[in-house]
Amino acid sequence: MNKRACVSAEQPQIRPYVLSLSSEARAVLKRQRPCCLWLTGLSGAGKSTLANLLELRLYELGMHTFVLDGDNVRSGLCRDLGMGVEARKENIRRMAEVARLMVDAGLLVIVSAISPFRVDRDAARALFAPGQFIEVYVSTPFDTCAQRDPKGLYRAALEGRIKDFTGLDSPYEVPLHADCEIDTSTVELPEAIRRLLQLLERQ
Ligand code: ADX
Repeated sequence: MNKRACVSAEQPQIRPYVLSLSSEARAVLKRQRPCCLWLTGLSGAGKSTLANLLELRLYELGMHTFVLDGDNVRSGLCRDLGMGVEARKENIRRMAEVARLMVDAGLLVIVSAISPFRVDRDAARALFAPGQFIEVYVSTPFDTCAQRDPKGLYRAALEGRIKDFTGLDSPYEVPLHADCEIDTSTVELPEAIRRLLQLLERQ
C-alpha cells in the first residue's frame, strides 16, 4: 500500500484517499521503473547540465521523465523562499514531495538542487521505496565552481553582495553514502552521463 495511505500524527483530521489505480499500474503503462535520481552539490558544480543531458538521453531511449531544477522550482512553487537555513530546508522538502508525486505518477525524476543538508536529503530518501531514490554527489571542487561562476554569484558573494552563499558563509554537508560521485572537473560529460545511465539500469 502507498506509504501515504496512513493518518498523519500531526494532522489526524486528514485522511488520505486511497486511489484505486496504483503507482505500479501507472508505471506498467509507461513500461519503466520510476525512481528519483537526486543530484546534490555546490552551485556551479554541473548539476543542471548533467540533469539536462541525462533527460535528453532518457527521452531518446523512450523514457518518461521530468527534471526538477532548483532555480526553476524557485521561480514558481518555491518563489517565497530565500536562502537561509530554514528556507532551504523547506525548499528541499517541497522538491522531495513533488518528486515523490511524480514518481508515483510513473516518471523518472531527476532532481538538481544544492540540497546542502544531509538530514534533508535523508528525509527526501525516506519518502521513497528502497532503491527508488538514487543520491548522486556532484563533487566538483569549490575552486572550480567559483572559477566557472556561470551566474556571477561567487563573485557577488565574495564581494559581500550576497549572503548565505553555499560553500562560503553557508555550509555544504558532503554526502556520506552517495550512490555515485561525479566531479565534472575531471570526468567528461559523456562519461558522466554513461555512469548515470548505468546507475539507472542497475536500479
Ligand atoms: S538549495 O540550497 O535550496 O538546494 P537550490 O538548488 O534550490 O538551493 O537553488 C540554488 C540556486 O540559487 C543556485 O543555482 C544559484 O543560482 C542560486 N542562488 C542564489 N543565491 C544563492 C546562495 N546564497 N547560495 C547558493 N545559491 C544561490
